[in-house]
Amino acid sequence: MKRILLSVPHMGGSEQTYVKQAFDSNWLSTVGPNITAFEEEFGAYIGLPAVALGSGTAGIHLGLRLLGVGPGDSVFCSTLTFAASANPIRYLGAEPVFIDSNFATWNMDPNVLEDALRQRAKAGKLPKAVIVVDLYGQCADFEPIREICDRYGAPILEDAAEALGTLYQGERAGRFGEIGVFSFNGNKIITTTGGGMLVSHNADWVNKARFWSQQARDPGLAYEHSEIGYNYRMSNVLAGIGRGQLKVLDQRVQQRRAIAFRYRDAFADVPGISLMPQAPFGLHTNWLSCFLVEERKFGASRDELIEALDHANVESRPVWKPMHLQPLYKDCECYGGEVSNHLFTCGICLPSSSSLPEMDQLYIIDTIRKTASAEALTPSLLEEGLPSAMTVGAD
Ligand SMILES: Cc1ncc(COP(=O)(O)O)c(C=O)c1O
Repeated sequence: MKRILLSVPHMGGSEQTYVKQAFDSNWLSTVGPNITAFEEEFGAYIGLPAVALGSGTAGIHLGLRLLGVGPGDSVFCSTLTFAASANPIRYLGAEPVFIDSNFATWNMDPNVLEDALRQRAKAGKLPKAVIVVDLYGQCADFEPIREICDRYGAPILEDAAEALGTLYQGERAGRFGEIGVFSFNGNKIITTTGGGMLVSHNADWVNKARFWSQQARDPGLAYEHSEIGYNYRMSNVLAGIGRGQLKVLDQRVQQRRAIAFRYRDAFADVPGISLMPQAPFGLHTNWLSCFLVEERKFGASRDELIEALDHANVESRPVWKPMHLQPLYKDCECYGGEVSNHLFTCGICLPSSSSLPEMDQLYIIDTIRKTASAEALTPSLLEEGLPSAMTVGAD
């Protein structure tokens, strides 16, 4: 039996047309019509100038450099995230300081942020920037976060790697910091196999990031360099995949949401398993369908559930291990930490591919229901079929 994976690429159909154009015209480098068009089309979608890069991590690295981060600085960062949010802080010789999440959004807690900034202001050690992560397809609560950061003069880098297509108060994720960064890694809502995008309200910064991403070669024929650069540009071939993927992004958002709500509805009568909160301030894409498992009520721990799914040939994963628990960052300061510890201990990410067949999802649901304690067990959904309400898939 084939293994059901967590999140796989899902092509829309037109990607190969653009890739073929790149081959036919021999634009097989980091210059060409696809890359120009992908930046324009993506920029129009977000409503900001954009530069296409080799990865989201590269975008965070360049973004922090644009914000002036350097050796000896500190940078605040959501602790509940993937390591790629924090690692670029160290690339620049700066030190991360981690900020806990709240239960309402799983994202950076504005109250903890405010306390941390107040304490740091008193000590004369304000951070050079604040990396706010939009986790699993949901925005952080940017209204209070922006107000607090403005009060302390701390610029925001919005790590929207997992939040393409997400809305906050009707506006697109990626627009809430001085800089926004997206990822097109193979597991994301759309992919270029690997890639990223940096956006900013400041067009000069976007141009500067583009310059640095191409080895910071000064204008002119001679290979002259006045600044350090990187080989961080996206290729024209991969930008072709991105153009095709962008056409189906809105569909992918609907598909990911439908999957999350189908799980949620199927577990409505199972105690101790609940969907990540859908904060009322925006649209959560549910890039990954994440659930909290309360062992006492559910009758099995999160790890036992992962193991049961694994035996059934289904991939699932714990929620991100917070940065303050990582050996790499064990000496870093962290404000709070209990909330993200809990989310990490009890949180599970279930298969969420937009191409996940309904029968496969039913099989996953059935496996999870069978893992729940006997009291939670009701007849097999596979035997009975889905109640019609569960197939609607919208909220
Ligand atoms: C929150 C977060 N930040 C940054 C990244 C880095 O993106 P990339 O893999 O494109 O470098 C990822 C995903 O990989 C991510 O999930």
